[in-house]
Amino acid sequence: MTADAAHPNQAACTRFSIARVVTNNCVEGDLLCGSLVVGAEVSLVPGGRQARITALQAAGATLSRAEPGSLLRVTFSTELPASVGALLAPAQQRPIAADQFQAELHWLGILPLLPGRNYVLQAAHRRVIAHISKLKCRLGIESEQIAATHLLQTESGLCNLALRQEIAFDPYTVNPATGVFTLHDSTSGERVATGKILHALRRASNVHWQATAVDKARRAAIKQQTPRVIWLTGLSASGKSTIANRLEQKLVSRSLHPYLLDGDNVRHGLNRDLGFTDADRVENIRRVAETAKLMLDAGLIVITSFISPFKAEREMARALFEPGEFIEVYVDTHLDVCEQRDPKGLYKKARAGEISNFTGFDSPYEAPEAPDIHLDTSQLSADQAADRILAYLDDLARDPA
Ligand code: ADX
Repeated sequence: MTADAAHPNQAACTRFSIARVVTNNCVEGDLLCGSLVVGAEVSLVPGGRQARITALQAAGATLSRAEPGSLLRVTFSTELPASVGALLAPAQQRPIAADQFQAELHWLGILPLLPGRNYVLQAAHRRVIAHISKLKCRLGIESEQIAATHLLQTESGLCNLALRQEIAFDPYTVNPATGVFTLHDSTSGERVATGKILHALRRASNVHWQATAVDKARRAAIKQQTPRVIWLTGLSASGKSTIANRLEQKLVSRSLHPYLLDGDNVRHGLNRDLGFTDADRVENIRRVAETAKLMLDAGLIVITSFISPFKAEREMARALFEPGEFIEVYVDTHLDVCEQRDPKGLYKKARAGEISNFTGFDSPYEAPEAPDIHLDTSQLSADQAADRILAYLDDLARDPA
């Protein structure tokens, strides 16, 4: 994190948000506040590189000084590694660059705020994946702090946010133009919150990714297989575990090395602290996806068998992998059929109101719209379903594109 000791006061500050990189030494964007003049030195944040402005253009006219208003084109004396969403600012009055901050959120979403879920954060021209790492409290009518595990529509709260990349900003009290942001649903794009940045948070320091001499390709080569994640999703009792087991057996009989991560089993150990609220399911799937990533890195063919009811978390899981590595398999069994099977008697209990948050009853299942493999279990036995997945893997091996 880089923070300037002296913060600009609002009147003096200049902030330019890059909307488009035109060439190595020319960008277009919006002047959010302050003014730019030809000959001035500006810093790029994040990054910190500096350059001198050699030309300013707006609406086809050449300017010596620019004020906020129309789209502005800025040309520099030297190349600048600019990117969309970064800010240009006076070298002596740089904004903060950080990937974690505390903010006051006003929740607008129909669905409640779920800590751990990925949202798209937008701040001027910056768009970055973010999640609420901690909901600190809800704010009452008189801004009193009330303990909370979620925020409902129209409620406000204090949260810590963690972003996938650093962004440049100022605390809202220092500069409202660069201290505000919105959050959007990662699938629908719908705006779910507005926020004001309070202050940057420091990431656990001295934690760096350690490069290893042996990599995923080498580990996979030893096993003579292509690592994949075969992600089964479907209702409880839809047949996921049975199909996953058959698939694992079939892969082993081809002398391949799979590993099956099964919902019920993982909830006995790694995830035994989690229940079935929406927030716990989000965390369940986050941990499983990260575990699958480690196993894939170890060269394994990972089969996961979890209800994984929410689209957003299945997409979060897919985003952790390279194209082609993650295969979403929809085990499509009608709710009535699952209820008739009811091997653990859970549907009966849910009907009797003895358990709550049961998928398909009082907890939603968002069926995949375009899974890589769609298994209609009214047409396929578990054995045939496993064969369909194997055939898909064989096709991928023949034609990786
Ligand atoms: S997930 O929704 O977080 O992906 P997961 O696959 O780990 O769920 O666990 C689902 C299994 O937990 C079900 O197969 C069922 O055996 C059991 N279970 C217990 N309570 C519930 C519940 N309320 N909703 C769904 N499954 C439940």
